[in-house]
Amino acid sequence: MDKDILILAIESSCDETAAAVVKNGRDVLSNIISSQIATHRIYGGVVPEIASRKHIEAIDQVIDGALEEAGVNKQDIDAVAVTYGPGLVGALLVGLSEAKALAFALDKPLVPVHHIEGHIAANYIQNKCWEPPFVCLVVSGGHTHIVHIKDYDSFDILGRTRDDAAGEAMDKVARVLGLPYPGGPHIDRLAKEGDPQAINFPRVTLESGSYDFSFSGLKSAVLNYINRAEMLGEEIVAANVAAGFQQAVVDVLAEKAMRACQELNVKKFALAGGVSANSQLRAVMEKNCAQRGIEFCVPAPILCTDNAAMIGSAGYYEFIKGNTADMSLNAYPSLKLGER
Ligand code: KG4
Ligand code: ZN
Repeated sequence: MDKDILILAIESSCDETAAAVVKNGRDVLSNIISSQIATHRIYGGVVPEIASRKHIEAIDQVIDGALEEAGVNKQDIDAVAVTYGPGLVGALLVGLSEAKALAFALDKPLVPVHHIEGHIAANYIQNKCWEPPFVCLVVSGGHTHIVHIKDYDSFDILGRTRDDAAGEAMDKVARVLGLPYPGGPHIDRLAKEGDPQAINFPRVTLESGSYDFSFSGLKSAVLNYINRAEMLGEEIVAANVAAGFQQAVVDVLAEKAMRACQELNVKKFALAGGVSANSQLRAVMEKNCAQRGIEFCVPAPILCTDNAAMIGSAGYYEFIKGNTADMSLNAYPSLKLGER
């Protein structure tokens, strides 16, 4: 490559206001994340109107911080990349409006990025040699997909959740156990103190051969277990509930992901999305891949949950393919993977 490409990336699809500067899609020069979690925790989940307002309050500082930490000024950047979907529409619009204003004022290209493509691209930052094709399990608060990444911009969705996303199920179960929002990290921590075999929760695998998921039955089984124990006055060992539930989630994710690698004869597998910060999922997938001779990649936990560095990486690959947008770019709350 003749010249380094610097992307200023902006992410505001849910409850983190984030900006980053990424060089050539792989080197993170800065990655600033302003989290709203403490605010939303009071309500037990993300309140969309509050999220939008908090993004507006934080975004200028976050962008200035990203440029300053990277040691670049606005004129040095080659393009502005921004998440335009999926996500909360009001939240997305804050980042998108800011990105449009910057691109227009600086006369730089505007690059639209799909949030899930961003999560997948976190692997390109983690492992500088990681390239498609590979199979990726994308597990976040809003999404659960098994995807065949054929090229940087070419995806086959093999399976998806038919109801709750894995992270959504984690957060809901955590809530009934009295744990704070977001519950995933608390389930992770508590499960380490419990016995995963003490309570046998169902593994819902759906029709034979299907790569789809369903977590709402498992979630209901946990709620029923807790309600029944409460009615009978039996002791509820929260650590055992967390461990049994997490084991059931990980078992189903691992079985389908490994079957996809085997059936497609793909020898590379990656994790992506907030739930891939889960310590048990990371350990189980690493072991499964090693046993089958499959190369494994998982982003560092800070690159698994929402951030803008991943948008900067995905944005770079869009930019070099010429996938830019004009000022009419809108936010798409239900944007599908692979859709433009
Ligand atoms: O990717 P992400 O930051 O936002 C979305 O795009 O949805 O994912 C957030 C989700 C939440 O459901 C959160 O509970 C879950 O990721 N999560 C975890 C862990 N860390 C975050 N779930 C399980 N174990 C963790 N360590
Ligand atoms: Zn996300």
